[in-house]
Amino acid sequence: MKGNYIDFHAHILPGADHGCDCAETALRQLEAAQAAGISCIVATPHFYPERHSTTSFFERRDEALALVESLGSSVKIVPGAEVRLCEGLDALPELKMFGIGESGNILIEMPQEPWTARLIDSLLRTRSERRLNVILAHVERYSPEEIEELFRLNIKGQINASALVSLTRRGRYYKWIDGGFVNALGSDVHGTGGAYKDYSRAMLILGGRGEMLQKSMNDLMLKAKIRDSEGSV
Ligand SMILES: [Fe+2]
Repeated sequence: MKGNYIDFHAHILPGADHGCDCAETALRQLEAAQAAGISCIVATPHFYPERHSTTSFFERRDEALALVESLGSSVKIVPGAEVRLCEGLDALPELKMFGIGESGNILIEMPQEPWTARLIDSLLRTRSERRLNVILAHVERYSPEEIEELFRLNIKGQINASALVSLTRRGRYYKWIDGGFVNALGSDVHGTGGAYKDYSRAMLILGGRGEMLQKSMNDLMLKAKIRDSEGSV
Protein backbone atom coordinates (compact mmCIF):
# COMPACT_ATOMS: atom_id res chain seq x y z
CA MET A 1 0.00 0.00 0.00
CA LYS A 2 3.04 2.28 0.38
CA GLY A 3 2.71 5.25 -1.93
CA ASN A 4 -1.04 5.46 -1.63
CA TYR A 5 -1.44 7.08 1.73
CA ILE A 6 -4.04 9.67 2.67
CA ASP A 7 -3.35 12.74 4.78
CA PHE A 8 -6.67 13.55 6.42
CA HIS A 9 -5.74 16.93 7.94
CA ALA A 10 -3.43 19.48 6.30
CA HIS A 11 -2.96 23.23 5.92
CA ILE A 12 -1.57 23.51 2.40
CA LEU A 13 -3.76 26.11 0.69
CA PRO A 14 -1.88 29.40 0.20
CA GLY A 15 -3.58 32.28 1.94
CA ALA A 16 -6.55 30.18 3.09
CA ASP A 17 -5.14 30.21 6.63
CA HIS A 18 -1.81 30.63 8.44
CA GLY A 19 -0.64 27.12 7.44
CA CYS A 20 0.63 28.09 4.02
CA ASP A 21 1.75 31.54 2.91
CA CYS A 22 2.39 31.15 -0.83
CA ALA A 23 2.50 28.79 -3.81
CA GLU A 24 6.19 28.05 -3.20
CA THR A 25 5.41 26.77 0.32
CA ALA A 26 2.51 24.70 -1.01
CA LEU A 27 4.79 23.12 -3.60
CA ARG A 28 7.36 22.20 -0.95
CA GLN A 29 4.60 20.76 1.24
CA LEU A 30 3.32 18.65 -1.67
CA GLU A 31 6.83 17.38 -2.41
CA ALA A 32 7.32 16.42 1.24
CA ALA A 33 3.93 14.66 1.23
CA GLN A 34 4.83 12.70 -1.87
CA ALA A 35 8.16 11.69 -0.34
CA ALA A 36 6.15 10.32 2.62
CA GLY A 37 4.12 8.13 0.26
CA ILE A 38 1.00 10.30 0.31
CA SER A 39 -1.10 10.43 -2.84
CA CYS A 40 -4.17 12.21 -1.47
CA ILE A 41 -4.42 15.19 0.88
CA VAL A 42 -7.56 16.50 2.49
CA ALA A 43 -7.00 20.27 2.59
CA THR A 44 -8.50 21.53 5.84
CA PRO A 45 -8.05 25.28 6.34
CA HIS A 46 -9.31 26.64 9.65
CA PHE A 47 -12.85 27.94 9.80
CA TYR A 48 -13.83 29.83 12.94
CA PRO A 49 -17.61 30.39 12.74
CA GLU A 50 -17.51 33.25 15.22
CA ARG A 51 -14.84 35.12 13.24
CA HIS A 52 -15.21 34.21 9.56
CA SER A 53 -17.98 34.67 7.07
CA THR A 54 -18.75 31.54 5.11
CA THR A 55 -18.70 33.45 1.80
CA SER A 56 -15.19 34.83 2.30
CA PHE A 57 -13.96 31.44 3.61
CA PHE A 58 -15.09 29.60 0.48
CA GLU A 59 -13.83 32.34 -1.83
CA ARG A 60 -10.38 32.17 -0.18
CA ARG A 61 -10.33 28.38 -0.05
CA ASP A 62 -11.45 27.77 -3.61
CA GLU A 63 -9.09 30.36 -5.07
CA ALA A 64 -6.19 28.78 -3.15
CA LEU A 65 -7.29 25.31 -4.25
CA ALA A 66 -7.22 26.37 -7.92
CA LEU A 67 -3.72 27.80 -7.40
CA VAL A 68 -2.44 24.56 -5.81
CA GLU A 69 -4.02 22.46 -8.54
CA SER A 70 -2.19 24.55 -11.14
CA LEU A 71 1.19 23.60 -9.61
CA GLY A 72 1.21 20.29 -11.47
CA SER A 73 1.64 17.94 -8.51
CA SER A 74 0.26 14.42 -8.88
CA VAL A 75 -1.00 14.51 -5.27
CA LYS A 76 -4.78 14.62 -5.29
CA ILE A 77 -6.27 17.43 -3.19
CA VAL A 78 -9.73 17.00 -1.68
CA PRO A 79 -11.25 20.20 -0.27
CA GLY A 80 -12.41 20.24 3.32
CA ALA A 81 -12.15 22.45 6.38
CA GLU A 82 -11.19 22.28 10.04
CA VAL A 83 -14.30 23.71 11.62
CA ARG A 84 -14.08 25.01 15.17
CA LEU A 85 -17.07 23.80 17.17
CA CYS A 86 -19.20 26.47 18.81
CA GLU A 87 -22.65 26.41 20.37
CA GLY A 88 -25.20 26.51 17.58
CA LEU A 89 -22.82 25.34 14.84
CA ASP A 90 -25.44 22.79 13.81
CA ALA A 91 -27.74 25.69 12.81
CA LEU A 92 -25.25 27.13 10.29
CA PRO A 93 -27.13 26.99 6.97
CA GLU A 94 -24.01 26.23 4.87
CA LEU A 95 -22.67 23.56 7.23
CA LYS A 96 -22.79 20.76 4.64
CA MET A 97 -20.43 22.72 2.38
CA PHE A 98 -17.69 22.33 5.01
CA GLY A 99 -17.70 18.56 4.56
CA ILE A 100 -14.77 16.71 3.03
CA GLY A 101 -15.36 16.55 -0.73
CA GLU A 102 -18.70 14.88 -1.29
CA SER A 103 -18.06 12.25 1.37
CA GLY A 104 -20.44 13.52 4.06
CA ASN A 105 -17.63 13.64 6.65
CA ILE A 106 -16.71 16.83 8.50
CA LEU A 107 -13.54 17.56 10.48
CA ILE A 108 -14.44 19.37 13.70
CA GLU A 109 -11.98 20.99 16.08
CA MET A 110 -13.01 21.12 19.73
CA PRO A 111 -12.35 24.42 21.55
CA GLN A 112 -9.75 24.62 24.31
CA GLU A 113 -12.32 26.16 26.68
CA PRO A 114 -14.39 23.82 28.88
CA TRP A 115 -16.96 21.83 26.91
CA THR A 116 -20.49 22.72 27.94
CA ALA A 117 -23.51 20.45 27.54
CA ARG A 118 -24.85 22.85 24.87
CA LEU A 119 -21.59 22.57 22.96
CA ILE A 120 -21.72 18.77 22.96
CA ASP A 121 -25.37 19.00 21.94
CA SER A 122 -24.33 21.06 18.89
CA LEU A 123 -21.80 18.36 18.02
CA LEU A 124 -24.37 15.60 18.27
CA ARG A 125 -26.97 17.56 16.30
CA THR A 126 -24.41 18.12 13.52
CA ARG A 127 -24.59 14.37 13.11
CA SER A 128 -28.22 13.63 13.89
CA GLU A 129 -29.94 16.68 12.34
CA ARG A 130 -27.45 17.73 9.64
CA ARG A 131 -26.46 14.14 8.77
CA LEU A 132 -22.74 14.84 8.74
CA ASN A 133 -20.31 12.23 10.01
CA VAL A 134 -18.25 14.06 12.62
CA ILE A 135 -14.54 13.34 12.89
CA LEU A 136 -12.73 15.15 15.68
CA ALA A 137 -9.43 16.76 14.70
CA HIS A 138 -6.20 15.90 16.58
CA VAL A 139 -7.82 13.97 19.44
CA GLU A 140 -4.48 13.71 21.23
CA ARG A 141 -4.68 17.41 22.07
CA TYR A 142 -7.45 17.12 24.67
CA SER A 143 -8.12 15.41 27.95
CA PRO A 144 -8.19 11.69 27.08
CA GLU A 145 -11.05 11.12 29.52
CA GLU A 146 -13.20 13.78 27.82
CA ILE A 147 -12.37 12.45 24.38
CA GLU A 148 -13.27 8.92 25.47
CA GLU A 149 -16.66 10.26 26.63
CA LEU A 150 -17.23 11.40 23.04
CA PHE A 151 -16.02 8.06 21.68
CA ARG A 152 -18.70 6.41 23.83
CA LEU A 153 -21.24 8.56 21.97
CA ASN A 154 -19.94 7.00 18.77
CA ILE A 155 -18.00 10.06 17.65
CA LYS A 156 -14.77 9.16 15.83
CA GLY A 157 -11.43 10.92 15.82
CA GLN A 158 -8.41 11.81 13.72
CA ILE A 159 -4.96 11.66 15.27
CA ASN A 160 -1.88 13.65 14.25
CA ALA A 161 1.15 11.66 13.14
CA SER A 162 3.37 13.66 15.50
CA ALA A 163 1.47 12.21 18.49
CA LEU A 164 2.49 8.69 17.49
CA VAL A 165 6.16 9.53 17.08
CA SER A 166 6.44 10.30 20.78
CA LEU A 167 6.14 7.49 23.34
CA THR A 168 3.81 9.55 25.52
CA ARG A 169 0.36 7.92 25.64
CA ARG A 170 1.19 5.69 22.66
CA GLY A 171 -0.44 2.71 24.37
CA ARG A 172 -3.66 4.64 24.80
CA TYR A 173 -3.60 5.77 21.18
CA TYR A 174 -3.13 2.17 20.03
CA LYS A 175 -6.22 1.22 22.04
CA TRP A 176 -8.17 4.00 20.34
CA ILE A 177 -7.07 2.76 16.89
CA ASP A 178 -7.69 -0.90 17.73
CA GLY A 179 -11.13 -0.04 19.09
CA GLY A 180 -12.05 1.82 15.88
CA PHE A 181 -12.45 5.14 17.74
CA VAL A 182 -9.60 6.77 15.84
CA ASN A 183 -10.11 6.14 12.14
CA ALA A 184 -8.00 8.82 10.45
CA LEU A 185 -4.37 9.96 10.43
CA GLY A 186 -3.24 13.46 9.55
CA SER A 187 -0.04 15.46 9.28
CA ASP A 188 -1.75 18.73 10.37
CA VAL A 189 1.08 20.30 8.39
CA HIS A 190 1.62 24.03 8.82
CA GLY A 191 4.46 25.55 6.81
CA THR A 192 7.46 23.45 5.86
CA GLY A 193 8.41 21.92 9.21
CA GLY A 194 8.82 18.18 9.80
CA ALA A 195 5.18 17.15 9.72
CA TYR A 196 5.59 14.80 6.76
CA LYS A 197 8.72 13.24 8.25
CA ASP A 198 6.56 12.53 11.31
CA TYR A 199 3.90 11.03 9.04
CA SER A 200 6.47 8.61 7.55
CA ARG A 201 7.79 7.71 11.00
CA ALA A 202 4.27 7.20 12.33
CA MET A 203 3.44 4.80 9.48
CA LEU A 204 6.59 2.80 10.26
CA ILE A 205 5.83 2.73 13.99
CA LEU A 206 2.18 1.83 13.44
CA GLY A 207 2.82 -1.14 11.14
CA GLY A 208 -0.47 -3.00 10.62
CA ARG A 209 -2.35 -0.32 12.53
CA GLY A 210 -1.18 2.21 9.94
CA GLU A 211 -2.59 0.04 7.15
CA MET A 212 -5.85 -0.20 9.13
CA LEU A 213 -6.02 3.59 9.29
CA GLN A 214 -5.32 3.91 5.58
CA LYS A 215 -8.14 1.50 4.83
CA SER A 216 -10.60 3.30 7.09
CA MET A 217 -9.65 6.66 5.51
CA ASN A 218 -10.20 5.14 2.08
CA ASP A 219 -13.64 4.00 3.19
CA LEU A 220 -14.38 7.46 4.62
CA MET A 221 -13.43 9.10 1.34
CA LEU A 222 -15.92 6.90 -0.47
CA LYS A 223 -18.87 7.76 1.73
CA ALA A 224 -19.68 8.53 5.33
CA LYS A 225 -21.54 5.97 7.35
CA ILE A 226 -23.56 8.06 9.72
CA ARG A 227 -24.39 6.23 12.88
CA ASP A 228 -26.55 7.39 15.72
CA SER A 229 -25.46 6.99 19.33
CA GLU A 230 -26.80 3.42 19.39
CA GLY A 231 -24.51 2.57 16.51
CA SER A 232 -27.09 1.82 13.83
CA VAL A 233 -26.40 3.15 10.34
FE1 LIG B 1 -5.15 21.77 11.90
